[in-house]
Amino acid sequence: MEQALVVEKLDKFYGKIHAVKGISFEVKKGEIFALIGPNGAGKSTTLRIISTILSPSAGRVEVAGFDLRGDPDRVRESISYLPEESGAYRSLTGMQYLWFMAGLFSGDQAVREQYISRAKAINGLGDRLNHKVRTYSKGMTRKLLISRALMTSPRLAVLDEPTSGLDILSALDVRKTIREFASSGSAVLLSSHNMLEIEYLSDRVGIIHQGTIFETGTPAELKKKYAAANLEEVFAEVAK
Ligand SMILES: Nc1ncnc2c1ncn2[C@@H]1O[C@H](COP(=O)(O)OP(=O)(O)O)[C@@H](O)[C@H]1O
Ligand SMILES: [Mg+2]
Repeated sequence: MEQALVVEKLDKFYGKIHAVKGISFEVKKGEIFALIGPNGAGKSTTLRIISTILSPSAGRVEVAGFDLRGDPDRVRESISYLPEESGAYRSLTGMQYLWFMAGLFSGDQAVREQYISRAKAINGLGDRLNHKVRTYSKGMTRKLLISRALMTSPRLAVLDEPTSGLDILSALDVRKTIREFASSGSAVLLSSHNMLEIEYLSDRVGIIHQGTIFETGTPAELKKKYAAANLEEVFAEVAK
């Protein structure tokens, strides 16, 4: 099966801090892969490198067949990235925000219209898109941002903690949106420190701790291997 993402022996130092220590994993086309681990594990660092925001200290990254070092522009065209601490422009309406972002991705009006109609279908915000973002709840803002990230139909969506801080219903909604997106054949790489929730969203997970991936597999495989009831228990065993 075609790989949407290949990460090989990726290393990242911040000065003397060795944040990511030679990690390797792959994400297939149409697959949802989650990096799960506690705060400080190296999840955001990894996602930022793949999204070309940070440069790696060593290792190889390939997105949709394009090498990160050799072809960074093609990599950027193939991905879309939702940062962990992202906000929307609060004094714009949701719709103005989407048009603004669509304009950054394409100069072609027909293409921009297609992006907007896709975003509307994804976020389901309806008339509220005509209200200012500052009047939105956290869940609504997140849906707006995720629809922005997915509207361009990237080959790989990189979503850093997409459901963190959301109430149950909003989180369920966001999970459903991500699932539908992946079923169209795009790949998703996401991160979460919430190991219980992520079990229901991911096809495969990588358990990351102190910059090292200790295990990768489907939630069912990992639970079986460690005779664990859930991924939190798997993590507790792996981190021993
Ligand atoms: N800009 C930075 N400068 C120095 N250290 C950083 C920086 N960003 C992250 N780190 C460190 O790198 C490690 C991994 O952080 P991060 O990738 O944000 O983890 P996670 O997203 O899993 O919580 C942590 O020890 C963190 O303190
Ligand atoms: Mg993080």
